[in-house]
Amino acid sequence: EAAEKGGYSHFAIKEINEQPEALRRALLGRVHQGELRLPELDALRASGTLDNILRIVIVACGSSYHASLLAKYAIEKWTRIPVEAITASEFRYCEPIMGPDTLCVAVTQSGETLDTIVGVRQAREHGSPVIAITNVVASGITRLSDAVLYLHAGPEICVVSTKTFVNSVSVLYLLGLYLGQQNGQVQPEQMRKLLDEFERLPGQIQDILDKANAPDDIIAPLAQRMAQVRSMVFIGRGVGYPTALEGALKLKEISYIHAEGFPAGELKHGSIALLDPETPLIGIATASHVYDKIVSNIQEVRARDAHVIVVATEGDEKIKQHAHDVLYVPSALEAFSPLLATIPLQLFAYYVAVARGCNVDQPRNLAKSVTVE
Ligand code: G6P
Repeated sequence: EAAEKGGYSHFAIKEINEQPEALRRALLGRVHQGELRLPELDALRASGTLDNILRIVIVACGSSYHASLLAKYAIEKWTRIPVEAITASEFRYCEPIMGPDTLCVAVTQSGETLDTIVGVRQAREHGSPVIAITNVVASGITRLSDAVLYLHAGPEICVVSTKTFVNSVSVLYLLGLYLGQQNGQVQPEQMRKLLDEFERLPGQIQDILDKANAPDDIIAPLAQRMAQVRSMVFIGRGVGYPTALEGALKLKEISYIHAEGFPAGELKHGSIALLDPETPLIGIATASHVYDKIVSNIQEVRARDAHVIVVATEGDEKIKQHAHDVLYVPSALEAFSPLLATIPLQLFAYYVAVARGCNVDQPRNLAKSVTVE
């Protein structure tokens, strides 16, 4: 097992560090010289099925659900088709309104999550075309789907998802761009620009990791200082909101610290009552069209004497006035920023868990794939 960990102490940190390579593999052969190719979808396209899609429903659980929530923003922007992301265990019992004009996208890294599989079965029964996004070749979900987009993340051993999360978001984005190209909402020039930005991401993730692996980095010492807190709050707006949800999920899964993610604008409607000097907060404040709004939410929190940690874009010196600690990530297009902001949150959760002596790769009560209801 030590050999499989390739010199790392845990699979978790090995897999976090594999993300640039994993993402490159997801883009390989699909993004090339400003063009997008998803041959896996050619048959669906040729049959005309994709021409009639009026609505997209993404069904998933856990981190895959958070990837789906993120992708909703980008897919709607690029296709102007309404997208709903729904957690599979709710979808299957909500008498979902599906049909041939509603594309069902199932996201499951394992391909075996029972709730997602049952949801997809229902979607099929209603006549919806199904596209599966999974990491595991020939897994259960692939047999129920009209087309499969593989994550190509490589094996993920740690129970908590890291590289499969990043690749799920990325493959969902590729699907969104493909559909946007099909329905004429994404023009060739825009496509080239977006794909160029996409191809920069693995290098940018590598930059974050290189910085985090340097001896003077602040994430591990910060995690050490936070290791004994009882509760943490994560906030974001727009794409920062699902990023906050995923950051909170990572922390609770592997460190057992109570953590919740909230849409920052919603804090004032209740959750702000949770904040006190003993409840640190992580705000996602990377460059975006709602940057000023999230900064003002962070100021409100700071006024409650909470310890404030912010994930921000490199070069944003102003944010330091509002935060006790700042975790910087490289500048990216707003849609892509969560793929970068997620990395320090994964590292933070990992180092907190290590400091607490938790079973990082196999947290209590969790399984890599949940094949029961
Ligand atoms: C389990 C894992 C989570 C994962 C979820 C969905 O609960 O512990 O990390 O996100 O299942 O898994 P899937 O394989 O469907 O993506």
